[in-house]
Amino acid sequence: MMNESIDSLMNEKRRFAPTEEFARNALVDESHYAEAADDRLEFWAKRARELHWHEDFTEVLDWQPPHAKWFQDGKINVAYNCLDRHVEAGNGDRVAFYWEGEPGDKRTITYADMTAEVKRLANVLLSMGVKKGDRVAIYLPMIPEAVASMLACARIGATHTTVFGGFSPQNLRMRIDDADAKVVITCDGFNRKGKVFALKPTVDTALEKPGHNVENVLVVRRGENEIDWNDDLDVWYHDAMADAEPEHVAEGMEAEHPLFILYTSGTTGNPKGILHTSGGYLTQAAYTHKAVFDIHPETDVFWCTADIGWVTGHSYVVYGPMANGTTQVMNEGTFDTPTPHRPWQMIERYGVTVFYTAPTAIRSFMKIGREYPQGSDLSSIRVLGTVGEPINPEAWMWYREVIGAGTAPIVDTWWQTETGAIMISPLPGITELTPGSAERALPGIDIEILNEKGEPVPEGQGGLLTISSPWPAMLRTIWGDDKRYQETYWDKFGDKYFAGDGARIDPEGDIWLLGRVDDVMNVSGHRLSTAEIESSLVGHESTAEAAVVGAADEATGQAVVAFVILKERFAESFSVEEGEALLRKHVASDIGAIARPRQVFIVPDLPKTRSGKIMRRLLRDLAEGREIGDTTTLADASVVKAIQEQMR
Ligand code: PRX
Repeated sequence: MMNESIDSLMNEKRRFAPTEEFARNALVDESHYAEAADDRLEFWAKRARELHWHEDFTEVLDWQPPHAKWFQDGKINVAYNCLDRHVEAGNGDRVAFYWEGEPGDKRTITYADMTAEVKRLANVLLSMGVKKGDRVAIYLPMIPEAVASMLACARIGATHTTVFGGFSPQNLRMRIDDADAKVVITCDGFNRKGKVFALKPTVDTALEKPGHNVENVLVVRRGENEIDWNDDLDVWYHDAMADAEPEHVAEGMEAEHPLFILYTSGTTGNPKGILHTSGGYLTQAAYTHKAVFDIHPETDVFWCTADIGWVTGHSYVVYGPMANGTTQVMNEGTFDTPTPHRPWQMIERYGVTVFYTAPTAIRSFMKIGREYPQGSDLSSIRVLGTVGEPINPEAWMWYREVIGAGTAPIVDTWWQTETGAIMISPLPGITELTPGSAERALPGIDIEILNEKGEPVPEGQGGLLTISSPWPAMLRTIWGDDKRYQETYWDKFGDKYFAGDGARIDPEGDIWLLGRVDDVMNVSGHRLSTAEIESSLVGHESTAEAAVVGAADEATGQAVVAFVILKERFAESFSVEEGEALLRKHVASDIGAIARPRQVFIVPDLPKTRSGKIMRRLLRDLAEGREIGDTTTLADASVVKAIQEQMR
């Protein structure tokens, strides 16, 4: 979103209040803000005690900046909270998931079913020698076994690391190595865009080279495609499950026991393994899910469209909703297969009441046309949510009018892989909504917008978004690299967490997110690092130098645009078009399709300062077709002209 448009939006604010009926029935009212302001730690302790603790805690927070321990002397089992607890309360027959495969096959899984599945799977993992503290990599599509795998790990205290199914073998291997995974859980293949997409071969390639410590690959049968089989490693999920003991008793784990590692892009080439632990994470995931989406578990049907390979799939498909005993919808494959009617027919079929998706998806629904949603009965919807990037007001209005019947509150939720759970968001029964603003910090969360010197910026001015007190679901460190944890998030402002986003606060206290201030791009709500793609490009034999920027893109928010200088001996060996196509393909196979540049420009030179630093700002201007900014610090001003020629 451009700053200019934010200016005009801030000036002519349109506000949308909740209907009286919604406000009356909402779970959370203003008292939560007051309660949290009065005693923040007591507020969180109360939220924590809404969960089941095997042993209660006596200490809420131990804060030795930048390291926090929440509820540390308590014992909790995350899977027990998401499963057994509901069955024991008499809700075993409640549907946990209405699941639909892309070809149209359907499964209904109750809390009792999922509990039984996870108990068996916990026993399978134990029989493979997975112990508390070991790591398990999960490389699965959106099938119920993915949820079961995460919960089975949590149940026995194994730390999972899920890897998005679109990532390449190299990326999968990097994560397996960094986490030192003992077991990988995958499937033969799955359905996507009307075809079977093979997954197991990626694991085979990833594990080809020795040097890893993977002892077993557990393979779910889904795509029924032919796969290679390695008797030393591979085990069919259904065989192992048939042989497994059905009973498993969940033990309490230390509140700070590592629950999962999730890799995300940073400003350097190497993804960071964000570590989340158990008690604090589950407390905030469960509370925010309930409060932000106004979840009444007896009646609501929640559909978060995120993949479990991303943090949103962790916190708002698995842990938050399941801790709250929520009925959910889950789907394999894409929204336009077999037809773009699919999501709306599913909302009608299951009576979805709360729908949570990304602005990029909303923009693609807009593009395809309102006749598709209008072909289904969406009257069950009462709350809409968005996440991952700023939502442009046009998309906001469309979402509200076409999907939300002009009345459903939209919760624009700001958070990060690192924060573990939602931090800034409206509360749907209270907040007067302003399209384009994520409104205010949730109860118990302290946000400050600072300048470079660490001083609060005046109202209306842009600054750096920081979180000024520790929060329960915060990351605890970067796996295996505490120094990088300190440097990335804390060195700038001491005991205040630096989020990497720019933000403004207006006179009414509404927060407006302004996008990343570092070299991290946001493509379709997914985080990509310029450095990671640059290092992939220079890894290609023909590339001498590369610079990557995120350029504004109508469909995807930002798009990857690369500028590449070829090595001299390659400059003649293919045409410019061939070279550009080759490099786009190279990045897609090296990192994954999501990183494929929208454009690669082969250029004679890159704009640099006299000290040799690439001026990305200029490249961004060029990529977005803007007047280029100040060039006085350029070492050689003719470079820009030469690039412009090439881009014509
Ligand atoms: O720039 C912010 C943007 O997404 C980044 C976090 O990305 P990731 O860790 O992949 O997590 C995405 C899902 C939680 C943030 O630093 N972002 C996320 N939500 C919003 C947002 N930007 C504006 N508005 C949002 N609601």
